[in-house]
Amino acid sequence: MKLYLTYHRIVQARRVESIGPDTYRLKVPPQSYIVLALYRYFEINPSNVEVHFVQCKASSNVLTVVLSSSSFGKLRFFGQEDDEKQTTSLDDPALFCQLPSISTRESTSIVSGLCGVCRLITQEHVSRDKSAVGLLGFKGNTLVAPADASLWTKFCELDMVRCMEKILKLESSNDASNVLTLPDEIGQLERHLQQPLKSHNIYKLINLVKNVRISSHGEHCQLTDTEQRFDFHENHKFAEGYEKTLADIMLFICLELAERRLGRELLSAKVPHVSGWFERVDHDDDGKLHHVCNEILPTMDNTTTLANISSLVATVQVKVPQEFSLYKSDTKKLNLKEDQILTTNQAEVLEILRKVDTIRTDIGSEVNDWETNLFEWESIPLDARPEGGKLPPARILRKRHQLESLVNEVVQLATDGDVIVDFCSGTGHLGIILAYLLPRCHIYLLENKEESQLRAMERVVRLGLRNVTFFQCNLDYFTARFDIGVSLHACGVATDIVLEKCFAQKAHFVSCPCCYGKLYNIEHVAYPRSRLFQESGLLLKEYFCIAHCADQTHDLTSDRTNVAKAQQGFHCMDVIDRDRALRAEELGYRVLRKRLKDEGCTPKNRLLIGIFTR
Ligand SMILES: C[S@@+](CC[C@H](N)C(=O)[O-])C[C@H]1O[C@@H](n2cnc3c(N)ncnc32)[C@H](O)[C@@H]1O
Repeated sequence: MKLYLTYHRIVQARRVESIGPDTYRLKVPPQSYIVLALYRYFEINPSNVEVHFVQCKASSNVLTVVLSSSSFGKLRFFGQEDDEKQTTSLDDPALFCQLPSISTRESTSIVSGLCGVCRLITQEHVSRDKSAVGLLGFKGNTLVAPADASLWTKFCELDMVRCMEKILKLESSNDASNVLTLPDEIGQLERHLQQPLKSHNIYKLINLVKNVRISSHGEHCQLTDTEQRFDFHENHKFAEGYEKTLADIMLFICLELAERRLGRELLSAKVPHVSGWFERVDHDDDGKLHHVCNEILPTMDNTTTLANISSLVATVQVKVPQEFSLYKSDTKKLNLKEDQILTTNQAEVLEILRKVDTIRTDIGSEVNDWETNLFEWESIPLDARPEGGKLPPARILRKRHQLESLVNEVVQLATDGDVIVDFCSGTGHLGIILAYLLPRCHIYLLENKEESQLRAMERVVRLGLRNVTFFQCNLDYFTARFDIGVSLHACGVATDIVLEKCFAQKAHFVSCPCCYGKLYNIEHVAYPRSRLFQESGLLLKEYFCIAHCADQTHDLTSDRTNVAKAQQGFHCMDVIDRDRALRAEELGYRVLRKRLKDEGCTPKNRLLIGIFTR
C-alpha cells in the first residue's frame, strides 16, 4: 500500500548517528498528523504501507511532527524546493483525489478521505493482530459510511479537524475580561457523551455485562435486583458505545491537543464527560496512544502553536448544545427557513407549475431513438452483465434496459484513450460493461460505499479487466482529469455534483438522474442551476416543491397508481432536468434530453447527454 499525505515543508532532516535512522521534522496539516499518529500507534510495518508526502500550500494550521525512519521507513517526498526531497513518479492515481489517500492493488484501487484512510490502516493492523478487530466496531462498520450520510464520519473527518484548527488558534485575549471560548465541537461531544448508550446488539451486551438473560426493554425493567440493571448512562464509556473503536482513537488524537493547550483540570471542570472519556481512552492502552502523540508531536517543537494557555485565561466558556447526538444518522436536510415549508397542496403545486410555464424555454424530453443496441448481451460475459452484480432476478431485465440506453450513448461518444468515470458506480453495473466494451479506454469507478466497491472489484478481477481503477471516496474528493463522465441514478444533489465535475473538465456527460426530492443547496451547488431559471422569479421553495413532485413518478402500469399525479411527476422531472441542461448549455455544451429506451424500466427514466462543443 502507498499512503499519501500532505506536508507544508521540511523543517529539518538529519542523520542522528552515522548509521542511525534519519529523523525528519516536518510541518503538516492536522489530517496528516492524525494519520501519522495512527500509523505509529498501530506500529504499521513501513514495507507494507509506504509513506509518501506531497507538498501543499502553507497554511496557518500547521503542526511540526518528528518522524524517524525506524518507525516510518524511507519517507518519500513530492515537493518543490527542498534539497532533501527524494522524488518518485507522480502518476499514482491516488494523487487524483484529495489527500490523505491510499493506493492498493498496484495502484488500481484508491481510497481517499480521512476516515477511509484510517479504516484501511486499522484493517492492516487487524490483519496482523486479530484481537484488535473490535476497533472496527459492530460488523466492522465503524466510520464506514461516507461523511455526507453519517454524522459520525462527518464528526471525525470534518468537524474534529476544524476543531483542531480552532484549538491551534486559541489565544488568550488581552482585554480585561480575558474570556476564552472553546470550539463548539468540544461542547457537542460533551452533549453526545451525556446521552444514554445506544447499541445494535444491546441485549446481547447487557446479558454479557450483567450476566442475565433478557431480550427486551420490558424484561430489563422487570429485573428486581438493581445490581443486574444496566446503567445506560454510566456504560456510555466510549464515543460510539461500550467499547473502544477507531472513532475513539481519532477523537483522542484531536482532543489531546486541547488537553495540551488547556490542561486536564480545565477540561474536567468545563466538559466533565469529555474529560472522563479522555481518561478512559488513555487508560485503556496504558497511555500508549498518549505517548505516541507526544513522540510525534513533541510540544517543544511546537512552542508557538501548542503552548499551554490556560494559566493566562480568566474565564473559559464552552457551549454545550441543548440537543446534539451522534447517534442520529441523517445529515441531509433541505436548507429552507421555517417560513418556507414546502407545499404539498395540489392547487398550489399547479400554481407553481403555471409559473414555470412562463419561463421562455422548452420543457420536455425526447423518446429514445436507438433502434438496436451497439452491443449484444449474448457476447457479454456474466460478470459484466447485471447478473454478475448479484441483482435479484426481478430487477435484472430492468437494469439491462437502463444500461442499454446509457451504454449506447457512451460507446458512441468515446474515442480510444479516453478516461471515462462512472460516478456513484455502486456495484459497478455501468462502469464494468463499459470497461469490457471499450478496452482502449480507461474506466474509473467512483463510489463511496466500501461494500459496493468491493463487489465491483470482485467482478473486475473475475473478468480480468486491466483498464479499471477504483476510487472509494466522496465525489467531492475526486480531482482527476477525465474525458467522459457517466452516472446512473446518482441520488439527488449527487447528479449535480457529477455534472459540475464534468463542466470543470469540459468532459462530455451521460447522466440518468434520480431522487429529485432530495435536492438541497450545498456549498458549491445551489438551485436553480441555470441563469434563466434563477432570473425567472421562481422561489427556492417553489423549485424544491417541483423537485419533490418529481419523485411522485410511480409505475404507470399499476392499478393503484394515481396516473395524473405520476404524469405530473414526469413533467416535474423534465422541469428540473431542463434547468440542468440550460446550465450546461450556458457553459458551452450541446445537450440532448432523452428518455431511457424502455421507459418502464425505472420511474427515473430521464437521460441527459452533454457534448462539449466550445
Ligand atoms: C442508486 S445507487 C446507483 C448505483 C449504480 N450507479 C447503479 O445504477 O446500480 C447510488 C450510488 O451512489 C453512491 N453515492 C451517493 N452519493 C455519493 C457521493 N457523494 N460520493 C460517492 N458515491 C455516492 C451511493 O453509495 C450508491 O451506491
